[in-house]
Amino acid sequence: MKVLSICGSPRRGNSETILLEMQKMFREKGIENEIVLLREKNIERCHGCVEFCNHNPGCRLQDDMKGIIDQMVKADAFVFICPNYFQMPPGLFKDFIDRSNIIFNCNLDPNIKNKKSVVICVGADKPHETDVCTNNIANLYCRYVSTVVATKSFQTKSELKGNLNDVFENSLNPDIKKDIRNLVDLLIG
Ligand SMILES: Cc1cc2nc3c(=O)[nH]c(=O)nc-3n(C[C@H](O)[C@H](O)[C@H](O)COP(=O)(O)O)c2cc1C
Repeated sequence: MKVLSICGSPRRGNSETILLEMQKMFREKGIENEIVLLREKNIERCHGCVEFCNHNPGCRLQDDMKGIIDQMVKADAFVFICPNYFQMPPGLFKDFIDRSNIIFNCNLDPNIKNKKSVVICVGADKPHETDVCTNNIANLYCRYVSTVVATKSFQTKSELKGNLNDVFENSLNPDIKKDIRNLVDLLIG
């Protein structure tokens, strides 16, 4: 089984830390896991030229989305994670969402809707605030690209310092690890 984790944070922070922890857990169970850091990729904004992708097997734009789409087609399951920005995903993650529309629009992967996914968002506010963002991704995006088996919103203590030292007060706390393990089990179970 191959799990593809897609990280929509523009910085090295909480989202990435959670994915690294999940990667350890996947590997312990012999599951292949690749992490795509969207911040390291060159992803142009969708131009909305559906007259092209409605009639061609792909996107007119030539950038790193081509490789990410290939990885999605080859994967068996997904973890989608991003921070909560005003109860919405950051533009970086939204650009990924918009550009990945060719997977279903061009039917590049007839099995995409059957692939399991977990959707996670992190935010400074209480988890129920961040749920708005998490549920939008799960309900409005993932219905086209996967079958969501779990969603989770985490409250972080981050002050947006942009480094790893402020992440969950220096490390992931044991409760968060338990939640993450649960998500891993649901995805691969
Ligand atoms: C532009 C911007 C908007 C944000 N809006 C919210 C928000 O509406 N609600 C919230 O809980 N946190 C908000 N945050 C805080 C981030 O969601 C929080 O720091 C998160 O942990 C960052 O994730 P990361 O460490 O993975 O980048 C915002 C941060 C930024 C930079």
